[in-house]
Amino acid sequence: METVVVTGVAGFIGSHVAARLLAEGRAVLGIDVFDDAYDVRLKHYRLANLRDHPGFAFAPTDVADEVALAAALDTHAPAPAHVVHLAARAGVRRSAREPTSYVRTNVLGFTALLEACRRRGVQHLVYASSSSVYGETAKVPFDTHGPAAHPVSVYAATKRATELLAHAYAHAHDLPSTGLRLFTVHGPAGRPDMAYWRFAEAMLDGAPVEVYGDGTAVRDFTDVHDVVEAVVRLLGRPPAGDPTWSPADPDPSTSTAPFRVCNVGHGGQASVLELVRVLEDALGTRAHVRHVAEQPGDVARTWADTTDLQRVVGYVPPTPLDVGMGRFAEWLRGFHARHGSIR
Ligand code: UGA
Repeated sequence: METVVVTGVAGFIGSHVAARLLAEGRAVLGIDVFDDAYDVRLKHYRLANLRDHPGFAFAPTDVADEVALAAALDTHAPAPAHVVHLAARAGVRRSAREPTSYVRTNVLGFTALLEACRRRGVQHLVYASSSSVYGETAKVPFDTHGPAAHPVSVYAATKRATELLAHAYAHAHDLPSTGLRLFTVHGPAGRPDMAYWRFAEAMLDGAPVEVYGDGTAVRDFTDVHDVVEAVVRLLGRPPAGDPTWSPADPDPSTSTAPFRVCNVGHGGQASVLELVRVLEDALGTRAHVRHVAEQPGDVARTWADTTDLQRVVGYVPPTPLDVGMGRFAEWLRGFHARHGSIR
């Protein structure tokens, strides 16, 4: 049975990816450090849903601890061929308050992982980048063929840095990698620091829903189940490198090396105030909106051009926001009933 390494396995997307791989009959070596980004009870909850599976092994490891990470991968035989790297510091706004912890996990940790993958001859590394790398790009929808040279948060800068490091390893060591520019992913057992979760908790409490700015900021909200589908499809398709790539007209999404960055988004558009309305319907309750100051590092808009994802794996995330929020609301009510609320 082939083992896939999933870092950040107690995290939101990582736990969903691991569950899917296990359901497909693959073995998973999960890595996570249970950091303090939010209430660790949620991470234990996600891991509990994986632990009983016979194909699951867990290494409690910090990816930024190079020695421990190498040991976690080295002790595994045969060498894992596929790695899905989702361990990261992920909130955009918090990165302004804790820049060094973001650089430590997202840049140092990613470099440690690249080293481990290089030594073990990994055949395909799929890792999370972010739609935030586009910064305040005027050209929409966002496509991967433009420069992405002006990030506006530390978080976005760390994610762009991972892509550049991945290219260096693809070029120097022939390590194939695919960077996922993920667009505001939502779903059951999600992240309590994100808007949809915070809004839902406030609505169920009868507390004010804090909207940053006037609420016209737009996001390309993407369902986690669709992201999992894209990850699994991409995992089986390592990039080969494009021999027609030219430094005279450099396309930053590809190269002669086995390197790819790819948008993973629904390709839709909803404002923050529309998200509030969708959640009102999903939860069957009214929101009391309170507008507060815009937050540094937030971009006005994201919107995925999905042409390349369609071309590479024949798939574009299909789930509309209202369907996703309906599923999330149902899950949240069940979670509250058994575990109480997490903020
Ligand atoms: C999300 C994830 O948190 C990042 O990990 C991911 O990399 C990023 O998407 C991405 O697309 O690349 P963000 O878009 O900031 O980041 O997601 P939310 O925290 O859900 O915020 C969405 C919008 O709601 C933003 O405009 C934000 O300003 C707004 N918001 C958020 C509020 O108005 N109030 C809140 O309490 C929280």
